[in-house]
Amino acid sequence: MYLTKEEEEMLSGKYGEIISSALKVIVKVGESLGAEKLVEIPHAHVSGLSYMTIGDAGLTFLKSFAERGARVRVFSTVNPIGMDMELWKRMGISEEFSKKQKEIVEAILSMGFEPTFTCTPYLIRKPLFREHLAWGESSAIAMANTYYGARTNREGGPLALMSALTGRTYYAGLHLDENRVPTHELILEEGIQLNDPAFAGALGYVVGEKIRNGIPLIKGAKMSFETVKSYTAAAAASGDIALSYIEGITPDYDWAIGEAEHLEKVPIEKREIEKMISLKGDIEVDAIFVGCPHADMDEVLELYSILSKCGKLRIPIWISTSRSTYEKLKELGVIERLESIGAVVIRDTCPVVSPLIASKFKSVAVTSAKGFFYIPKMHGTRAVIIPFRRIGEIACKRRR
Ligand code: F3S
Repeated sequence: MYLTKEEEEMLSGKYGEIISSALKVIVKVGESLGAEKLVEIPHAHVSGLSYMTIGDAGLTFLKSFAERGARVRVFSTVNPIGMDMELWKRMGISEEFSKKQKEIVEAILSMGFEPTFTCTPYLIRKPLFREHLAWGESSAIAMANTYYGARTNREGGPLALMSALTGRTYYAGLHLDENRVPTHELILEEGIQLNDPAFAGALGYVVGEKIRNGIPLIKGAKMSFETVKSYTAAAAASGDIALSYIEGITPDYDWAIGEAEHLEKVPIEKREIEKMISLKGDIEVDAIFVGCPHADMDEVLELYSILSKCGKLRIPIWISTSRSTYEKLKELGVIERLESIGAVVIRDTCPVVSPLIASKFKSVAVTSAKGFFYIPKMHGTRAVIIPFRRIGEIACKRRR
C-alpha cells in the first residue's frame, strides 16, 4: 500500500506507540480489502459505547487506550450510550450499570471525543459532498452517503476509533466511485405515501429485506430530510444498505444515473408498506417511542404541536434526542411542557441501546422501522409501528 511520508512516520512510531498500532490496524484492514492507499478524514464517529452492548470487554478495551494516553487527531463524535447521563435513575438503570457506563464515558472523553452521544452526527457537523469520513452507526453512514453525498464505509466501533486516533481510513469500498454505482431501481407503486417518517421507514425496511446488500435508486419520490433519515436507518437495519440514490435528494444522483448500465428492477407494492403500519387508534401498548434515529428539533417541535392539542397522555411517550437538541428544547420550555402532559425526553441514549425497555415495558409502539427491527431482538419486547403524524389520535386521552 502506498503511504505518505507522514503515514510512514506514524507507522514507525514517531508519533507514539498508540498511533502506530492504530494505523497498523487500518493498513491491515485496507490491504485485506485491496486498498492502494489511505485517505485523510476530517470527522470520525464511533459507535458501540453502550455498556449494555459492549460489556466489560469493551470497557477494558476503551480504558486501555485512554490509560495509554490515546488522543483523537480529528473532530470525533460518539454514538448514544446506554443511559441518559442525568435521568438514568428514572429510566430504571441500576447503580452498577450506571457506574460502568460512566467509566466508558470517562475513557472516551479523556481521549478528546466530543460528548455528543447521538446517532445523528451530521447535525453536529454537516458532512460535505464527496468528503471522506470514517463513521460507525449504520443509520448515520447511510445518511452521510445518501443525503450529503459524503463517502464512508460502515465501520465497526474499534476501526472508527483507530481512524479517530490517526485521522485516516483505508481507500476502499464506498470511498471509490466505482463502488458507488447503483445496482437496483425501486419501482414504487402509485399511491405509496412517503410523507411520514413511519411510512418512509417501512419502505426502507422492505427495501433492506429485498435487496440486502446493494445500492438502490429511487426516482420521483417526494422525500424530506426526516423521511430520508427514517428510510436510510431502516434500510441499513433490515439490510446492509449504506447508500441509496434518491432523486432530488442525493447530490450525485445525476452522476449515478449516468453510470448505471443495468439496474435490476425491484417492484414495491403499496400493501407491503401499509401492512407494516398499525393504523388503529385504540392500540394498547405500554409506551410509545419516538426518536430513532434521534429526533431533531423539527421533529420534536412537530410532535409538541400535535400533543399540545391533547390533555394528559393515555400512553406515555418517550422521545430520544441528542443533548444538543435537548438543550435547545429546554431553553424554549418545550421539555417542561412535554413532561407536564406525560412525555419524557431522554438524551444521550435510545430505547435500543439502553436496558430501559427490558426493565419497564412489555409492548411498545414506535414511529421507526429501525426501532421495530431491533427492539424485539434486543429486548424481547413486542413492537408495532404507528404513523408519526397520528400519534395524537393514539396517545391522547381526549382531544381538545
Ligand atoms: Fe439511533 Fe438508537 Fe435508533 S442509536 S438509530 S436511536 S437504534
